[in-house]
Amino acid sequence: MAEFKTIDDFDFKGKTVLVRVDFNSPVDPETKKVLDDTRIRAHGETTIKELSAKGAKVVILAHQGRPGEPDFIPLKQHAEILEKIIGKPVKYVDDIFGEKAKNAIRNLKDGEVLVLDNVRGFPGERKKKTAEEHSKSELVRNLAPLADIFVNDAFSAAHRAHASIVGFTWVLPSAAGRIMERELKALRRVLENPEKPCVFTLGGAKADDSLKISTYVLNNKIADYILTGGIIGHLFLAAKGFDLGKPNMSLLEKQGVLGLIPGIKELMEAYPGKIKVPVDLAIEVDGERREISTDDLPTEHPIFDIGSRTIKEYKEIINAAKTIVVSGPMGVYEREEFMKGTKEVLEAIASSDAFSLVGGGHTVAATEEFGLSDKMGYISTAGGALIAFLMGEELPGVKALEEAAKRFGS
Ligand code: 3PG
Repeated sequence: MAEFKTIDDFDFKGKTVLVRVDFNSPVDPETKKVLDDTRIRAHGETTIKELSAKGAKVVILAHQGRPGEPDFIPLKQHAEILEKIIGKPVKYVDDIFGEKAKNAIRNLKDGEVLVLDNVRGFPGERKKKTAEEHSKSELVRNLAPLADIFVNDAFSAAHRAHASIVGFTWVLPSAAGRIMERELKALRRVLENPEKPCVFTLGGAKADDSLKISTYVLNNKIADYILTGGIIGHLFLAAKGFDLGKPNMSLLEKQGVLGLIPGIKELMEAYPGKIKVPVDLAIEVDGERREISTDDLPTEHPIFDIGSRTIKEYKEIINAAKTIVVSGPMGVYEREEFMKGTKEVLEAIASSDAFSLVGGGHTVAATEEFGLSDKMGYISTAGGALIAFLMGEELPGVKALEEAAKRFGS
């Protein structure tokens, strides 16, 4: 494993530091109000506070949404939220690398924090290029000469080979921020040398991702068991030859995931007994929960959760595990009648001695809702980057930091 530098490797006093964070947050499409401050809080309470306390002139670069989408908004609100979180003034400039931004950077005093505008306002930002190519972009050519160090704290955007993620690492000594460091440490603990048995609990609806993750972690002997639920569970049951009944099969068809069945079958045959599918299910009959065995399939009712026998079986596997990754709910946990599977599986994970890693928006929200967040080993704030990592993909943002460590030496 190549290594990257961290905040501990630099003296920040009086230095101008460009810090790439991930402030990308849910935004109300009508009012344009930022609805959740989790990511801003994570970076603010760690990396940003620390760099400011160490006397750095902190210049924040971040994105919000994608151009053309309703959540593509300026970062003024984010700067105001950050100010409350870190408890000291945060400057904001509605410019990314023009004269306004450059003057604001030049006028910073030690310990001050400045947020630049949404970096995706720069059309070259989202082009997929190498670090060297992006280092020639207007963004990097304008900002890098004003800075001494680049810190990348945006693990959750590290799967993007974008200008602000990789470009600065080519021309500036670079370090991973605390969130980047923390996420990678937790993920490497799971993927590189997991304590065994290692269990992956995969639910929700992202079937393509789940199949790729399952394939990677089984082929590389990372996971001992994969527990399936949610739409993933339905699809894996269908791959075992079960006809789930009209409403459920048409849902799979509508989601365009039936084409994954041959790949799933192949994986299950290659690893017999490793991939667990539900043995019973909760269906909705007249608005109520009713449980049926998979032997009773097909059903004309929609399946909304795993059943009690499945929960019991999954709990036994979880209780014996030493490492657990959980991504995706086991059912429609938003409805009280169908939250049992998700809740009990998460409770079992929370109370086990295993190191647990929780990822994915819905799973993190459910963990929070059930009051289990404090009992988990690590809760990732990443979405796509986490999935890419669990599939064994190299993350351009991380690779760029490793390359920078080599290029700039000690
Ligand atoms: C995320 O929210 O997963 C990251 O901020 C990346 O956003 P993107 O998918 O728009 O690149």
